[in-house]
Amino acid sequence: MRTKLTKLLGISYPVLQGGMAWISDASLASAVSNAGGAGIISTGGRTTEYTRAEIRRCRTLTNKPFGVNVMLMAPNKEEIVEVICEEKPAFVTLGAGNPVPYFGKFHAAGIKVIPVVPNVRLAKRVEANGADAIVAEGMEAGGHIGSIATMPLMTQVIPEVAIPVVMAGGFADGRGLAAALIMGAAGVQMGTRFLVAEECPVHEKVKQCLLAATDTDSIVTGATIGGAVRGLRNKFSEEFVALELSGKATKEELLRKATGTNKLAAVDGDTEHGMMQAGQSLTPLKEIEPAAAILGRIVREAADLLTNAPARMR
Ligand SMILES: Cc1cc2nc3c(=O)[nH]c(=O)nc-3n(C[C@H](O)[C@H](O)[C@H](O)COP(=O)(O)O)c2cc1C
Repeated sequence: MRTKLTKLLGISYPVLQGGMAWISDASLASAVSNAGGAGIISTGGRTTEYTRAEIRRCRTLTNKPFGVNVMLMAPNKEEIVEVICEEKPAFVTLGAGNPVPYFGKFHAAGIKVIPVVPNVRLAKRVEANGADAIVAEGMEAGGHIGSIATMPLMTQVIPEVAIPVVMAGGFADGRGLAAALIMGAAGVQMGTRFLVAEECPVHEKVKQCLLAATDTDSIVTGATIGGAVRGLRNKFSEEFVALELSGKATKEELLRKATGTNKLAAVDGDTEHGMMQAGQSLTPLKEIEPAAAILGRIVREAADLLTNAPARMR
């Protein structure tokens, strides 16, 4: 399956596994890359030592291209960027801040730059400044989100830029991948779908909550304090939103309450007090299986739909 994205990265299938803070490590990233997509190691919340070690570990697990994600709100982002430039993964994705000042450094190190953007204005801005591709992420996605949904983003971003557009937010099956490609996307990025991969190190208790969840089980916290984050409904997220809406807590109090809750769920498995970041496409998560099985099925389904599309419309 060849698209502008597969050509840019030298991969077989136009699917990225999105960077997921405290979760997507070399095990998951290499499994996705070995299966023909491109995995991404997350550095959000991590040290430079962790970042270097995971990139090196990933190289022992795959000889295929993989990427590294930088959260630009991380206090140690400058040091993380240095380490990535030294270790030279195939590409980086950059979110939650202004990515433009880092383009030159990554390009000088031979690393492709793929910013994550939530609207047309930023898509055009990063293209004008030399981004190699973009991930346009809709508010159906898990984790930190913007305010525009995936379909209106696809409708409006794809015709406005010439660089490859990777769509993210709510993709979980082959029909979604086929639809994005028909719309003119160069591929999709999925996070939530890979949370239930066998190789995904998210806590087992979180995996079980994901398997039990359906379409209405996600909720957005932090929308009133300028940092919207989508995750599963649980004691923490429902009480947090109720507190936000009550107006009884200051922004600082809310920020303090939210800090550390992602790690609490993902690493410690506290599914009551932690924030289990996840997107809206939850019903397809039915079993824990290897990343290669998830990706293989999605690609086969998309290829079949694309081949047989004309016959379906007769
Ligand atoms: C648990 C979780 C953690 C995430 N952490 C990050 C992150 O650290 N950096 C980032 O750029 N995106 C992050 N994301 C967003 C994903 O990379 C991806 O764009 C998103 O999951 C796509 O939407 P989907 O969840 O509907 O597949 C996260 C998503 C999830 C589900």
